[in-house]
Amino acid sequence: MIEVRHLTRTYLSRRSPKSKEPFVSVNDVSFSLLENTPYALVGESGSGKSTLAMMLAAILPPTNGEILLDGNNIWALSPKELRLMHGEVQLVLQNSQGALDPRRRIYESIAEPLRKLRHLTRQEEQHTVHDILHKVQLQDDILMRFPSELSGGQQSRVCIARAMALAPRLVIFDESVSGLDVTVQKKVLDLLLNLRQEYQSTFLFITHDIDVALYMADHIFVMKEGKIVESITDAHGYDDFNHPYSRELIESLPPKTPYNR
Ligand SMILES: Nc1ncnc2c1ncn2[C@@H]1O[C@H](COP(=O)(O)OP(=O)(O)OP(=O)(O)O)[C@@H](O)[C@H]1O
Ligand SMILES: [Mg+2]
Repeated sequence: MIEVRHLTRTYLSRRSPKSKEPFVSVNDVSFSLLENTPYALVGESGSGKSTLAMMLAAILPPTNGEILLDGNNIWALSPKELRLMHGEVQLVLQNSQGALDPRRRIYESIAEPLRKLRHLTRQEEQHTVHDILHKVQLQDDILMRFPSELSGGQQSRVCIARAMALAPRLVIFDESVSGLDVTVQKKVLDLLLNLRQEYQSTFLFITHDIDVALYMADHIFVMKEGKIVESITDAHGYDDFNHPYSRELIESLPPKTPYNR
């Protein structure tokens, strides 16, 4: 479905703006994602995960390389094709990353992408919003509230609903459940596993937590300093990781987490 070829993103160095040497955030990354499959991408802070996510969602242009969706380079699409593509590929952030507009009621936040990307009647729109709200296990009464009137777990469910209302083929979750209490986090992850089955979408879960990665997907990419250093297609436990960097990540884990399989 999506093929990433030699994707690279550089930034001009902030620390030394006069330096001619650009900072390479994503460095010659290639992989492909199949239809209806869960994937996880794990790596430490600063490894380039969010930069990669934004390029995949066609929000940030790559410096080099290409992203092919069904064989078409997403950075060479016409504005109309790009709009269609935004309906098929969704990026879900945490609310603390500014995912929800604080001045908008929840109903409006969920309906906004539908209005931009789908031509629905008012009645169809309301039906879609209520339907997805129930699928993420939220009650109708939150629709008229503002994001600040919801708990962190409820906010993350709203962010998920907003993306899933479009029934996208690929959903990228960039640390979407980080910052939540561990038990709340697990409930949201279980909800996501069910939603993925139901929608038959491809999910890419981005996390710095290898346990979350193992819980969410069998196919795990490990990213370090802009490169994918390991790609494991059938990961079921720590023993499946071989790269020294992956071993380091595992050794630095706290002793017991609720994701142990
Ligand atoms: N707009 C920018 N300008 C300059 N450098 C940037 C910019 N965005 C990201 N970077 C740098 O690129 C590198 C990768 O950042 P990125 O946000 O992709 O990492 P990440 O893996 O998502 O980290 P985290 O786990 O903390 O979210 C970092 O060193 C970061 O400082
Ligand atoms: Mg990030």
